[in-house]
Amino acid sequence: MNLLPPALAALGYLVAAVLFILALKGLASPRTARRGNALGALGAAIAVVVVLLSTDFHGANLIIVLVAIAIGLVVAVPAARSVRMTDMPQLVALFNGVGGGAAALVGIVELAEWSGATPSVATTATAFGVLVGSLSFSGSIVTFLKLQGLMTSRPVVAPAAPVLMALSLLAGLGLAAAVALTGNVWVGVGAALLGAVLGVLLVLPVGGADVPIVISLLNALTGLAVAASGWAMGNTLLLVAGTLVGASGTILTLAMATAMGRSVSGIMFGALRGGSTAGSTTVSDRPVRRASADDVAITLAYARRVVIVPGYGLAVAQAQHAVAELVTVLRARSVDAVYGIHPVAGRMPGHMNVLLAEANVPYELLIEAEDLNPTMPSTDVVVVVGANDVVNPAARTDPSAPIYGMPIINADEAGQVIFLKRSMRPGFAGIENELLFSPKTQVLFGDAKTSLRAVLTALKEV
Ligand code: TAP
Repeated sequence: MNLLPPALAALGYLVAAVLFILALKGLASPRTARRGNALGALGAAIAVVVVLLSTDFHGANLIIVLVAIAIGLVVAVPAARSVRMTDMPQLVALFNGVGGGAAALVGIVELAEWSGATPSVATTATAFGVLVGSLSFSGSIVTFLKLQGLMTSRPVVAPAAPVLMALSLLAGLGLAAAVALTGNVWVGVGAALLGAVLGVLLVLPVGGADVPIVISLLNALTGLAVAASGWAMGNTLLLVAGTLVGASGTILTLAMATAMGRSVSGIMFGALRGGSTAGSTTVSDRPVRRASADDVAITLAYARRVVIVPGYGLAVAQAQHAVAELVTVLRARSVDAVYGIHPVAGRMPGHMNVLLAEANVPYELLIEAEDLNPTMPSTDVVVVVGANDVVNPAARTDPSAPIYGMPIINADEAGQVIFLKRSMRPGFAGIENELLFSPKTQVLFGDAKTSLRAVLTALKEV
């Protein structure tokens, strides 16, 4: 259409880039996250409109672009609206994979247009975008299949996997170098295929608990691939947006790995070195002290300070409203009740914050683990709602535990501990939690929402 002069198009890109940066800033806190998300969406919408108005489409290309946008909307909007909170990591994996695949395709189209080129920064950036973009695409599809339960979530290590991976990596780098030197489109297609093989080989050995970290890493790689496409096409906005995604994805990956007490290389290559990243899932038959809803209500009613530690089970049970009601009732009875938030509780970054925000929990009642731990010895009761690994003392005491080194909420230092869970099944790490068998612990078995409702009813009688 070419309706926008280049200067106005550049201004539009600048506005979109600023909106992306403001979006990231907003997403850093639950208080401003909604606004951040809206600003990011506005930036993306402005970017699309600027591209449509400033590009000289040849022939039927505009129709193809509009049809592609329509298909994207019809597939993505209902998927994003209907996804359950617990399935969000899979959806993010799919969207991320699509981004990586798009970056690889853009690179191949650029190569086809150049039909051979002299080596330059642009051909090098294109080679990088094609290899890394297709790696991110296939790796993301495998993470999706693992999290969706369409394939095993355990580490899959093929015989001679390290050799296979090393050979594929060398071949991939060789082909990428050939693309950078020749700009040949068919070499580019070969690099894309090898990138896809590498993505599969890289993600197969990663165990289920570590998959969300790998999604974050692949997300960072997609960002870098998109930035490379931006460089090759001379599109500033793609360069800025890709760099933002690459940088923030890298920071998130490192933060998640630190919060889990793991190294990124240990997560990616641990299974190849022989150590499995998934624990066993043996169900313990050791006896525990069972509690009834009445017991829990009495314990809570006479406590001075109560800390609620929510975990993955809160999301499964969708018990965020029930837990918020419990805290409100306790606080109305002058019990100092707060929430203890562990950075990797649940299955995605900020999982507990998102859930509790749905129930309009005041942010000042959410206390981060590191601020909470010094107050644990003076806490009367910790109620562990659908959490397990994030309060498992094995992280401090058992060097053979897969979670050893992960900072935890020191619930074992409180006066009493109450677990709300359905069975004696372990948490994601697949290991037993000694705290369940401590003399100070009681377990109220059942779905967290049902149990909390029963405790709320019982509290009315106390
Ligand atoms: P987990 O250790 O996975 O424990 C969840 C607990 O919830 C289980 O004990 C389960 O026991 C219980 N549960 C499940 N459904 C329930 C329901 N409907 N009602 C009541 N209880 C229910 O969770 P966590 O403590 O939140 O720890 C998170 C784990 O995920 C950590 O190992 C962490 O490293 C890992 N991880 C987290 C992330 C991020 S970014 N959050 C990313 C990757 C990995 P029952 O089955 O007996 O009910």
